[in-house]
Amino acid sequence: MRAADTVILSVPFASQAEMLRDLGDALRPGQLLIDTTVPLASAVAGEPSRLLGVWQGSAAEQALELVPAGVRVVSALHTVSAASLTDLEHPLDQDVLVCGDSREDKREAAALIERIDGLRCVDCGHLEMARVTESLTALMIAVKLRYTNHAGIRLTGLPEELWA
Ligand SMILES: NC(=O)c1ccc[n+]([C@@H]2O[C@H](COP(=O)([O-])OP(=O)(O)OC[C@H]3O[C@@H](n4cnc5c(N)ncnc54)[C@H](OP(=O)(O)O)[C@@H]3O)[C@@H](O)[C@H]2O)c1
Repeated sequence: MRAADTVILSVPFASQAEMLRDLGDALRPGQLLIDTTVPLASAVAGEPSRLLGVWQGSAAEQALELVPAGVRVVSALHTVSAASLTDLEHPLDQDVLVCGDSREDKREAAALIERIDGLRCVDCGHLEMARVTESLTALMIAVKLRYTNHAGIRLTGLPEELWA
């Protein structure tokens, strides 16, 4: 893992802190960590459409606190369901909300994520905005329960070029 330029952290919230502590020396300064974790209440046997409070404000901000200094943390992919990513019969057509404290780090994450056809990344501001984007997973689960696994988010009225 130390050799990787980018690490994607995609584990249940209940395992996130333990996982980051266990990784310890496996992460190194300069790496980009894309955190997808959502503090769903189901992590502690609650409802999947509810969130847990996180002292740091969001799972992404907790990740930033736990990684070695110099690891760059970006938060993304919370509104994209695993079901839509793995169903190759249905083309994706949705936005990915990206938060982080460095525009350059977000741009790097976006370039990787947009290699998946049908995903457009939108810069949603500082890492603290992950409090909002993580909570949208609960919303998407509520929508999914009523309609389809393939529901996604699309922001309108944005310029053509989002990462100039
Ligand atoms: N699923 C979605 O549609 C979706 C959408 C948006 C965001 N998210 C968020 O993305 C994260 C991952 O979701 P998921 O649905 O992919 O979860 P998941 O299927 O329950 O778990 C993902 C992976 O985490 C590993 N894992 C869990 N606990 C671990 C531990 N203690 N040590 C090492 N590996 C561990 C599992 O490994 P094993 O298979 O070996 O157990 C599995 O490969 C969650 O925080 C979730 O809220 C998910």
